[in-house]
Amino acid sequence: MKLFLDTANYPQIKELSQTAIIDGVTTNPSLMAKEGIEGKENWIKHYTAICALAVGPVSAEVIALDYKGMLEEAYELASLHKNIVVKIPMTKNGIKVIYELATKGIKTNCTLIFTAAQALLAAKAGATYVSPFIGRLEDINEDGLGLIKSIRSIYDQFHFETQILAASIRNQNHIVRCAELGADVVTAPYSILVKMFDHPLTTKGLEQFLADHKRLNG
Ligand code: G3P
Repeated sequence: MKLFLDTANYPQIKELSQTAIIDGVTTNPSLMAKEGIEGKENWIKHYTAICALAVGPVSAEVIALDYKGMLEEAYELASLHKNIVVKIPMTKNGIKVIYELATKGIKTNCTLIFTAAQALLAAKAGATYVSPFIGRLEDINEDGLGLIKSIRSIYDQFHFETQILAASIRNQNHIVRCAELGADVVTAPYSILVKMFDHPLTTKGLEQFLADHKRLNG
């Protein structure tokens, strides 16, 4: 299973790119805004800089909502680097754009997936990835993990090659459960990924090992 970093923060991407634990990066317009990256020129520079870190696939989202505008943005983003995956929202126009890009061999990530029906349409259109938003479903008391299970079952039954990229991750348990349920990729924020290294008993055990060693060896 692959782990992606869900951020547009360059230092965080750079740091984790050197640990070999991340296989890719996902961004969205909110994450770009959080980093204060303003204007098309700066967006392009930022995506190019992230791709230069050789972190694997980098999802970059279109802003337009009309078919022609989305397609133009998608071609421009895809031309920046071979690792760019064009992120397209789950709308009727979005699905048409995904289908068109698939025929050209351009990789896509269909975002804002909240139902298995939406995931089915994205797979039929030829999306490379679908992004079901686990946390946002749980925020409204719906079953985010159940959605992963349902999409997995449909994709396996009909041999769809679209990869399930579980997103809107709120804790480590989400990552582990998504792995158990067969998500191909989980994208998580830096704050959650780095917690995966830790357990209080690991810290305590290490302190004990070093204290015992010191007692005998000085
Ligand atoms: O990749 C999508 C993700 O960034 C959404 O997460 O925390 O805004 O629900 P969140």
